[in-house]
Amino acid sequence: MCGIVGYIGARDAYPILIKGLKRLEYRGYDSAGLALVTNSDQLAVYKTKGKVADLEHYVLDKDITGSMGIAHTRWATHGEPSDANAHPHYSQSGHLALIHNGIIENYPVLKENLVQNGYTFRSNTDTEVLVQLIEYIMFTHGIDLFHAVQLSLTQVVGAYAIAVIERNNPNAIVAARKSSPLVIGIGEGEYFLGSDASPIIEYTKKVVYVNDDEVVCLRRDREPQFYNLNRVEKSHRIIELEMTLSQLEKGGYPHFMLKEIFEQPHTIRECMRGRVNVEHNSITLSGIIDNRERFLKARRIIIVACGTSWHAGLIGKYLIESFARVPVEVEYASEFRYRNPVLYDDDIVVAISQSGETADTLAAVELARSRNVFVYGVCNVVGSSIPRRTHSGSYTHAGPEIGVASTKAFTAQVTVLALMALCMARERKTLPQPEFEHLVAGLAAIPAKMEETLQVSDFIKKFSCIFTYAHNFIYLGRGYNFPVALEGALKLKEISYIHAEGYPAAEMKHGPIALIDQEMPVVVVAPNNKSMYEKVVSNIHEIKARKGRVVAIITRGDTVIKEMADYFIEIPPAEECFVPLLAVIPLQLMAYHIAIVKDRNVDQPRNLAKSVTVE
Ligand code: AGP
Ligand code: GLU
Repeated sequence: MCGIVGYIGARDAYPILIKGLKRLEYRGYDSAGLALVTNSDQLAVYKTKGKVADLEHYVLDKDITGSMGIAHTRWATHGEPSDANAHPHYSQSGHLALIHNGIIENYPVLKENLVQNGYTFRSNTDTEVLVQLIEYIMFTHGIDLFHAVQLSLTQVVGAYAIAVIERNNPNAIVAARKSSPLVIGIGEGEYFLGSDASPIIEYTKKVVYVNDDEVVCLRRDREPQFYNLNRVEKSHRIIELEMTLSQLEKGGYPHFMLKEIFEQPHTIRECMRGRVNVEHNSITLSGIIDNRERFLKARRIIIVACGTSWHAGLIGKYLIESFARVPVEVEYASEFRYRNPVLYDDDIVVAISQSGETADTLAAVELARSRNVFVYGVCNVVGSSIPRRTHSGSYTHAGPEIGVASTKAFTAQVTVLALMALCMARERKTLPQPEFEHLVAGLAAIPAKMEETLQVSDFIKKFSCIFTYAHNFIYLGRGYNFPVALEGALKLKEISYIHAEGYPAAEMKHGPIALIDQEMPVVVVAPNNKSMYEKVVSNIHEIKARKGRVVAIITRGDTVIKEMADYFIEIPPAEECFVPLLAVIPLQLMAYHIAIVKDRNVDQPRNLAKSVTVE
């Protein structure tokens, strides 16, 4: 999910590469590296765990000459952050160097074949398999690099943006793209590569966005050539960029938070990549499969987390209890760690954390480990502290989340929890096969439904300014959507600084209803899922009877609540258990647009940190 930079032309490549990596720094990363064909025709690879500044320090005494090179900032998905796992990766003979953004899903099979053909590996990444495969094909078929890349990629399943260079050939960079972004910069007799245009824009505004399944060869002496994997040349369109650098870093969005809200269809697809197979009605979650016995005999699951991750945990409770019929307790990590909890050997503690560094959650993990309880992590940052201390886990693969208010990480956490619940249900045989298959298909359909849901952003932007007067909001939801109400309230609180509380809708009559008047907006998550719809309609009647103003999140086609609510936002129909993945989006957008009208700093709200590493 991180950064690629490349250059070929008449200038020294190193300054362009290192500056390009810094331009991509906003994307977050855990290691950095670069490869050059030096003036002495050596293929030099320099890489290190840590920041771009660490890489700059590392190369101080190295040969960084050369007018062609590639560079990478890594956001690890397979293999913890380390010098060996950083990119570029050499091929076995040292003839090639490759950088990669994305996930090679079928790398285990490819790796097995290469091992059988005498290849050894220096890293435990998926990427290294690709560079070895390209070399193997290049050498065994006696073909050039460009053709070896094309042929290799026909065997690859997954997402990639790659760039490859070869020893004693300073005249060609071969690049390719599938799902992960890749941009070519067209200069005067020089060409650039970037994951986005931010490393390129100061040199040229002429760019070509590489399409899926295209392989491109950059040579210093001619315009780039684009081919598909069948070696058919493709036309390409040169675009003149208008965006500023700051706009580019945010993908053209005004804020990282809005960009990350709109990234959710993509990040949920990444989260499910290699794990959900609708054709075979299968869910593959290696963390569960590798610990099958434990999850079979577990009599209780305790979820520990903080903030938004705790809200995801509440949804996880509903999912796991509903599908796998295992009791689930959800605890604030800060409470769990201090209350001397009663734990049993066959408990499983699940720690949810986007950053993997939250002090309270880490302490809860350590407490569970000290009691010999099996700990499973659901984290986003590969190689962070919590995943390093859990016995197993599943990464959310949401990519770097820059906005302090968590959005895409939340929906990715809920998705992983749904995958865990389905995996456990299959192992424990608690779901009839037709229902299991229906749920797998329903989950796989969510990213497309998220894309539909995101279309309400402009409507929400218009009506949000109506509520900037408010000093208090109530958010209501039932069942799976009670945690969504809590999450919506937290989003509003943390970026607009308006007080908001989330409640189970039925709880309103036990006190909060005293707050209802025409000054109190009430957001009701009210999808038309059979089990509680009528009850929520009654709650809305109770609010309207007290002149409360209702914003309802309803299922598209609902005609009843549409007539009752002051404002309504429609989401596509979905299985009740997956509605939170859709219903949360309007609430994220509402919080964002209200905060913008109130001129708040949505990416760095006051008093907040992206990762609370202190108690
Ligand atoms: C959510 O928008 C907040 N940024 C905060 O509640 C966050 O979810 C909490 O601090 C937990 O962080 P973690 O997921 O990185 O552990
Ligand atoms: N999957 C590769 C790795 O873990 C690439 C990660 C990235 O996109 O930075 O090294």
